[in-house]
Amino acid sequence: MNQRADFNTDLEGSSFWMPFTANRQFKKTPRLLARAEGMYYWTPEGRQVLDGTAGLWCVNAGHCRPKIVEAVKRQVATMDFAPTFQMGHPIAFEFAERLARIAPAGFSRVFFTNSGSESVDTALKIALAYQRARGEAQRFRLVGRERGYHGVNFGGMAVGGLQANKRMFGPGVAGVDHIRHTHDPARNAFSRGQPAHGAEFADELERVCALHDPSTIAAVIVEPVAGSAGVLVPPQGYLERLREICTRHGILLIFDEVITGFGRLGQPFASQRFGVTPDLFTTAKGLTNGTVPMGAVFVRDPLYETFMQGPEGIELFHGYTYSGHPVACAAGLGTLETYADEGLLTRAGSLEKYWEDAAHSLKDARHVVDIRNCGLIAAIELEPRAGAPGRRGYEAFVSAFESGVLTRVTGDIIALSPPLIVEKPQIDRLFAAVREALQAVP
Ligand SMILES: Cc1ncc(COP(=O)(O)O)c(C=O)c1O
Repeated sequence: MNQRADFNTDLEGSSFWMPFTANRQFKKTPRLLARAEGMYYWTPEGRQVLDGTAGLWCVNAGHCRPKIVEAVKRQVATMDFAPTFQMGHPIAFEFAERLARIAPAGFSRVFFTNSGSESVDTALKIALAYQRARGEAQRFRLVGRERGYHGVNFGGMAVGGLQANKRMFGPGVAGVDHIRHTHDPARNAFSRGQPAHGAEFADELERVCALHDPSTIAAVIVEPVAGSAGVLVPPQGYLERLREICTRHGILLIFDEVITGFGRLGQPFASQRFGVTPDLFTTAKGLTNGTVPMGAVFVRDPLYETFMQGPEGIELFHGYTYSGHPVACAAGLGTLETYADEGLLTRAGSLEKYWEDAAHSLKDARHVVDIRNCGLIAAIELEPRAGAPGRRGYEAFVSAFESGVLTRVTGDIIALSPPLIVEKPQIDRLFAAVREALQAVP
């Protein structure tokens, strides 16, 4: 067992302040994972748990894949760290080149970060700096969307649209506005793939433009499929319309692909799946298969060229100590090799119909009010228990875990996003476990 022999599983009073966790509740009744391989985790007691969430939407190739493990081992023993400020190391250049090869045409520039949150803040800063570099410094506004999740740093928190993530942290960033979300259960409940109704929600951007004067807006950021707020799939025609409005007003469009990147929707990136091209897009998670923290912002070539035509010297005063960290780049190269060997960047496409049918087979399950899916993502939305929103979802999550299946829950929405190596019998097991969990909870 891969576990420290002296580990004390009595966690009440533990020093670890856990992120996005009800610490007191968790430490009384912990759920621990100690080992992982392929589609599975094992608890410290040796109980097997099917991973229905690719860790946290990140382990797209499955756990502990040999090429990634070897690449990390090799790199950490060869050169553990080297700076990328006015210095360089070959593996960072190599990884950027390889990423550019799988990116949509015209995105041959990559800026490295260490997480999704850092990718988002980096993309917002590049957008503002680009507008200034091209002589449009009056474009200082950033527009996000209700129910958007763009991480937890100040920029991402500001453009994000989740009240719980903002209310404790003061006024935030100035000059931010939001368009409405795309969720419309009255017209779109139980849609398969992209819902038919709601392209017109993109016109909300025209309202925000009219309110502020479009020439003051630098960028709009959206998740192509909103993940963390409960899997909101873009209505047919919505992203196209958003693109068209941005182009017309000289506003940059940023896709936050932290979840959708690296094959989740059956193409390397969501922009390829939906046929809509942003100006910048953010990634993290699947970039290194979750093994070493890393993020990357992809930038359209004309944006990069604009910076390179500016005054000599440092073109962008931005970067992290660990931007292009050699061990993360090694993990990323091992990840891309694994994706290529096994066709994982497109495999979700071949499983999507089976996945969709399995998800929608829960339509008659207890408590279910909506089911949504796209690529290898599904959400099962439950009717909240009267007076206790989120409680039913949480209990279903615990019940599924106890039966050996890891799901993810946001309020009363159960989200599933397994590693892209998932096989059909494992898909059956996932949805059967959710059905049983729903039967078990009041
Ligand atoms: C769309 C999106 N953006 C940003 C983030 C933040 O990523 P991280 O937790 O790596 O900072 C997430 C995390 O789930 C995400 O889903």
